[in-house]
Amino acid sequence: RKPMTLPRLAQMHASGEKIAMLTCYDAAFASLLDEAGVDILLIGDSLGNVLQGRGSTAPVSLEDMVYHTFCVSRGHKWAWIIADLPFDSYHVSKEEAWKSAAALVKAGAHMVKLEGGGWTVETVRFISERGIPVCAHLGFTPQTVNALGGFKVQGRDEAGAARMKRESMELVEAGAAMLLYEMVPAALAAEITAASPVPVIGIGAGVGTSGQVLVLHDMLNITPGRKPRFVKNFMEGQASVLAAVKGYVDEVKAKTFPVNEVHGF
Ligand code: KIV
Ligand code: NA
Repeated sequence: RKPMTLPRLAQMHASGEKIAMLTCYDAAFASLLDEAGVDILLIGDSLGNVLQGRGSTAPVSLEDMVYHTFCVSRGHKWAWIIADLPFDSYHVSKEEAWKSAAALVKAGAHMVKLEGGGWTVETVRFISERGIPVCAHLGFTPQTVNALGGFKVQGRDEAGAARMKRESMELVEAGAAMLLYEMVPAALAAEITAASPVPVIGIGAGVGTSGQVLVLHDMLNITPGRKPRFVKNFMEGQASVLAAVKGYVDEVKAKTFPVNEVHGF
């Protein structure tokens, strides 16, 4: 097995071979997820909720992200590694964004992810032109939950959908090598994916994207309380965590997860 690369991910997108991605925050899970055949490990700023017990991702620091990216890179062999640029680490200037992205790359990330379209276009151009691949996270963006007015599906009306399509094109033109859509109508995500030259990963975006991502602790049913609609418990009926993660990879590849009517919008 060869280490995952950006050209290989682009090829998977082009050929319709689904990409399986999960969040990962430490070395133990990194080696297990790698072993299970997960294509991409995301050090998500969801670690603020999952590991730190916070109510949002906003308090997560760049230092937190660097630490967990380092931990994941220690346990990993094959997967592509994406690390989130946290809240307040890329907003003030392109230069600050580059410094934050470079810190994550030094800790072991292959790509960085940031939230939003429009104002982020010049930031994406600046970072990717200088050699760090960027994934742009659109749709529901947890870092700006307060501005969005809550945990809401995005792009439901015509204007919102048109804006999302326009922003996707602008980001790709600026050099974004991947897009990620959270909580958008399945039909819209499928349409954007079909038109996109780069892989599109979805969470709560239906089965029509190039790949899927879930928060690890959600799909292992460790997260307490009520889970979002797009989460599925992959531990159910499994005797081990490895089997559960393999089940997730298999279902993503076979397009049996997600089911639009059950997990989608
Ligand atoms: O932080 C995170 O876990 C994420 C995924 C949910 C896409 O950004
Ligand atoms: Na995130």
